[in-house]
Amino acid sequence: MLGRIGAALMARGNAAVEQQVVDIAGVRDDETVLVLGPGPGVGLRAAGERAAAAIGVDPSEDMLRISARRCADLVRAGTVRIRKATAEQTGLEDESVDVALTVNNVHIWSDRAAGFAEIARVLRPGGRIVLSVHQKFLPVTRHQLASEVETAGFTDVQSWTWDPPGVLATRAVQLRAVKKAVNA
Ligand SMILES: C[S@@+](CC[C@H](N)C(=O)[O-])C[C@H]1O[C@@H](n2cnc3c(N)ncnc32)[C@H](O)[C@@H]1O
Repeated sequence: MLGRIGAALMARGNAAVEQQVVDIAGVRDDETVLVLGPGPGVGLRAAGERAAAAIGVDPSEDMLRISARRCADLVRAGTVRIRKATAEQTGLEDESVDVALTVNNVHIWSDRAAGFAEIARVLRPGGRIVLSVHQKFLPVTRHQLASEVETAGFTDVQSWTWDPPGVLATRAVQLRAVKKAVNA
């Protein structure tokens, strides 16, 4: 019950950010998108409506169930896939995705360096990561976060802050970067 209430609050409160990261990533209809920690699935649905395929990875069975319900038609169509896994260990093939999106979950990964290394592993060279997280929960500065992402094998790292609409919304730290090409 508490999980369902929390999911409903997240779905409503974070919808603008979830949609925004899909827009920032410029998801195209021939691309595969990995959504880390989709929670109630708002961003997973937005990605699935734009991409050839969207894969949601979350360790919580409750959240996966709610995501699956929100994306039921896209799951039936085979566009959205849902996996019980983590950012640190997605279980996906090397270089199998074009875009990775993470909204409000980097601060709860057990190991950020492992998470960013895993994202670099599964992204194709030139693939993009777009991240957003509540600034108040991030244990490092956005510049430190950018440096962690660079260390994991990304280039063109940009970070900024954004105030989402809504009275209860709080400032987000956001970042985008590109996975280095093999010889870059
Ligand atoms: C605060 S919710 C955010 C959900 C959604 N992205 C949003 O902003 O509304 C965090 C989500 O990350 C998931 N999560 C927790 N640990 C994770 C990990 N190591 N890797 C990926 N997702 C994780 C949680 O189960 C939950 O669904």
